[in-house]
Amino acid sequence: VTSVLHSEINEQPDAIKRAIAGAKQATLALVAEAKRRDVKYIVLAARGTSDNAATYGRYLFEIVCGIPVGLAAPSVHTLYEAKISYRDALVIGVSQSGAGEDINEVIGQARKAGALTLAITNTESSVLAQTAEHVLLCHAGVERAVAATKTYTTTLALFALLASLWSESGELQTHLERVPEAMEQVLTASQNTVPVVARTLIHAERMLTVARGLHYATAIESALKIAETTYTATQPFSSADLLHGPIASVAVRTPCLLFVPNGKTAPMMNEVGDKLSARGARVIRLSSDGTDSLDYLPLVPPGTELLSPLVDIVPAQLLAYHLCLARGLDPDNPRGLTKVTVTR
Ligand code: F6R
Repeated sequence: VTSVLHSEINEQPDAIKRAIAGAKQATLALVAEAKRRDVKYIVLAARGTSDNAATYGRYLFEIVCGIPVGLAAPSVHTLYEAKISYRDALVIGVSQSGAGEDINEVIGQARKAGALTLAITNTESSVLAQTAEHVLLCHAGVERAVAATKTYTTTLALFALLASLWSESGELQTHLERVPEAMEQVLTASQNTVPVVARTLIHAERMLTVARGLHYATAIESALKIAETTYTATQPFSSADLLHGPIASVAVRTPCLLFVPNGKTAPMMNEVGDKLSARGARVIRLSSDGTDSLDYLPLVPPGTELLSPLVDIVPAQLLAYHLCLARGLDPDNPRGLTKVTVTR
C-alpha cells in the first residue's frame, strides 16, 4: 500500500517548480502595486501549517526587504470586533484551502480598512481567493493527506519569490530555482537514515523540536507534523526561549530534534545542544555535517541560509511518516482530524 502522505512528500520538488513558474506574473503585479501604494508594513493571517509558513515569511520579509511584518490575531476581528486601521499595509491571508472563516474575515476587514490584500492559497475557487485583491496560487496539486506537506513548502517558495522580486535580488531568485534539486538530494539522503532513527523513537511520549531565527518555522512545523500524525506530545522551541526556563522541564532521554542548518544560528544551536546533552536529553541533530549515527539526520544546504527552511522540513516530514509506520498508525488519516478545519 502506498501512502498518500509519502507520495506528497516526494512530489515537493516538482510542486516547487510549478509554484515558482506559475506565480511569477501575479507576484510581479503585486510587487508593482505594493510599491505604487507605498506599502509600509505587512500583516500575515493564517492557521496551523499555513501559520508556520507565515512565520518563515515574517523573518524573510524583514531580513530581505527591510519591511516590518506582524502576525495577525484573528480573534481580534472575529470575537472582539475591533476596528483596526490598515492604512499603508499589505495584509496577506495564507490558507491551503482558503476556507477558514477567521482568516477570510481578517482579509475582508483589512480590505475595507484600506489595506492592499493578498491571498496565498492552493485553492483558486476559494472564498479567500475571492476576498483578496491579489492571489498567488501554490500550484501544489490537490493535497489528499490530512497532514499538509507540499502546500507548506510551496507556500514558503511563494514567500521567497515575493521577497526576491520585492527586493530585486537576482541572487535569491537564482538560488530559489535550485531548491528543487537540494530537495531531491535530501529525499535521497533521508531514505536510509530517517526510518532507522524513527524506529528508536517508538516509545517516546514527549519530544522537543528546537531551532532559532529564520529556522524557527521549521521547529514549529516539525512539531505540528509529528504531533498530528504520531500523537507524540511534541513541543517546539526557539532555542533562546528554551534557555529562558523551559529547559528545566527536559527529562533524561527526552528526544530533542535540533535544527542546525549552515548559517547564523549554527553556533548557538550547538551550544544549546550541549546544554541539553548535559541534562541527559537525547539530542538528534539535523545538520549537513554530522556523522553517521542514530543521533543525526542529514540536511542539504540550498546555497543560501535564507532558503534552507524549504529543504530542512523534508527530513522532519519523513520522520513523522516513518514514526507513524513504526507505531502501526495510518499516516494519511490521523485520528479525529479532517482535511479542512474551519475556525472563527
Ligand atoms: C496540518 C494542517 C492544518 C492546516 C490548518 C489550516 O498539517 O494541515 O494545520 O494547516 O488547518 O488550514 P488552511 O491552510 O486550509 O487554512
